[in-house]
Amino acid sequence: LTTALVPTMGAFHRGHLSLMKWARDNSRRVIVSLFVNPTQFGPGEDLAAYPRAFERDARLAEEHGADALFAPRPEDMYSEDHATWVEVPKLTRALCARSRPGHFRGVATIVTKLLILACPNIAVFGEKDWQQLAVIRRLVVDLNLPVKIVGRPTVREDDGLAMSSRNAYLSEDERKQAPNIYAGLRELNKWRKAGEKSAQTLVQRLEEHYRRTMPSGEIDYIQIVHPRTLEPLSTVVGPALAAAAVRFGKARLIDNLLLEA
Ligand code: PAF
Repeated sequence: LTTALVPTMGAFHRGHLSLMKWARDNSRRVIVSLFVNPTQFGPGEDLAAYPRAFERDARLAEEHGADALFAPRPEDMYSEDHATWVEVPKLTRALCARSRPGHFRGVATIVTKLLILACPNIAVFGEKDWQQLAVIRRLVVDLNLPVKIVGRPTVREDDGLAMSSRNAYLSEDERKQAPNIYAGLRELNKWRKAGEKSAQTLVQRLEEHYRRTMPSGEIDYIQIVHPRTLEPLSTVVGPALAAAAVRFGKARLIDNLLLEA
């Protein structure tokens, strides 16, 4: 009997639902967890504002094939004297880790706890959070957790914007600009295919592109890294991932694209 776990923080959009559908189609039993994990939010971040819609989420999970919804309270997951953390330092130096110190420690710890509690054979995550997925793949191997980690493609709006619960924070004007995050990554891939190999040049061109197309956006980072080790690359010749994070007000949006060799 296969059990699949779909870990989430709720506020479901089509991205979450596609993970549930994949789990439903590929396992006998589907558990969806819904927990807005406080330890992965930094002091100035949006823990309090993070969208919560429990009744709607519970209904959607059921409609999309969940057999069980696991929605613990913070005190169920973290006792007052909680003192154990899971960390994967090698993969949490670049990309999102720079502006979100402690974030991946929170993610790695809660995912480990969820895997221990739910005992799934498979756990399903979206590729939009590529670094998170890389961290989880690593910790599962390193801690000998008997679970297969499955990454599923990012689900997008018609104009290319990656689905995210944080898109709800965008104003109308910001929402119009935000699809340029992904459009720009695709441009970078074209420059790369046309022969540009220098990561620095590619990143600089994308920075200019972002400034032009997203005047309200503030670039947090643009990086080209090895897709598995997440080591920054200086020359783009083999497997590579271009990843970006852009802030629009309190919405910090991330996206990535695997560059074709
Ligand atoms: O991707 C998310 O929604 C969260 O980071 C996760 C994996 C559910 C851990 O809280």
